[in-house]
Amino acid sequence: MERVVSGIRPTGRLHLGNYFGAMVNFVKMQNTNECLFFIADIHSLTTHPTPEDLHGNVRQTLIEYLASGLDPEKAVIYIQSDVPEILELYTLLNMNAYVGELNRTTSFKDKVRQNPNNVNAGLLTYPVLMAADILIHHAAKVPVGKDQEQHLEMTRTFARRFNNMYRVEYFKEPEAFNFGRQLIKIPGLDGSGKMGKSEGNGIFLADEPEVIRKKVMRAVTDSGPVTPNSPVSEPIQNLFTIMEVVSEPSTLEYFRESYANCTIRYGELKKQLAEDIIKFTQPIYERMKELSSNDSYIRNVARQGAEKARAIASQTVSEVKEIIGIKKF
Ligand code: TYM
Repeated sequence: MERVVSGIRPTGRLHLGNYFGAMVNFVKMQNTNECLFFIADIHSLTTHPTPEDLHGNVRQTLIEYLASGLDPEKAVIYIQSDVPEILELYTLLNMNAYVGELNRTTSFKDKVRQNPNNVNAGLLTYPVLMAADILIHHAAKVPVGKDQEQHLEMTRTFARRFNNMYRVEYFKEPEAFNFGRQLIKIPGLDGSGKMGKSEGNGIFLADEPEVIRKKVMRAVTDSGPVTPNSPVSEPIQNLFTIMEVVSEPSTLEYFRESYANCTIRYGELKKQLAEDIIKFTQPIYERMKELSSNDSYIRNVARQGAEKARAIASQTVSEVKEIIGIKKF
């Protein structure tokens, strides 16, 4: 059975981009594959969260995983730092990752541009840690959004390089995966770019209905189509894209047609979109509330997940060490 691995950084609350870019695939795949899903808390240290924020965010992300439908009876759910073997593999893989290629990674260049005062080595080697997360479980598929595509390419490069260097067929080359289609990018509500936590353009799974209504009603639009079948501008296309994942196909068709024949009213589109988002997030939100008071359940899920993940990870690390020549006397 093909193994599936993926993770999300605990940077606060999950937004619709995380859900439709990655989570929705996790939730489906746990029924058919051997799945491992983790919270990438070590990755999130590159942005220096306070200890309180880090701990709270890990807990909240775990709750949101469970509320979104990840089932610890079907999948292994764990916290990255509970599996120290990942850090051991990360160190070993770092020896064959070149500074030149890491420097050229798009996500690294973006981070350097955004935060020139915090260009740390963890950011530079971020793709190596990600490769360790994936290769440690010999994953075949990695459900992620479009923004992670390059990291997966690098994971394959590191796997191939290791195999070539030691003349083994040890690591599998994993592929970025989205059910039945291209990797996706969920746009934000600000008219351009992707939905993100720090961009302030997102809708969170934990947003109250009133907050969702307000955010959607404030979403950027344009002054409306003037001639029939005119091209759709980016802000409007973005609203259509969100509609594509949360609304009925007939709803999207109705608004696309009314755009094409210039009768569209953006207020009506936004009202409908807000209600469709709420319909989707409300059950998740309710489950989050139930789970947040169930500390012992949450602790158990994390403990069980760590045990199962470590069993695989420790075997991989000892095999890798053997291949490299790190052997016991
Ligand atoms: P992160 O925490 O930024 O995002 C988690 C997942 O959500 C997806 N995503 C999106 N998809 C579509 N549209 C969006 N607007 C959007 N925003 C976020 C991301 O593609 C991702 O799948 N490096 C990873 C975490 C990670 C990981 C791994 C993933 C660490 N190790 C190993 C897979 C395998 C990250 O920062 O994702």
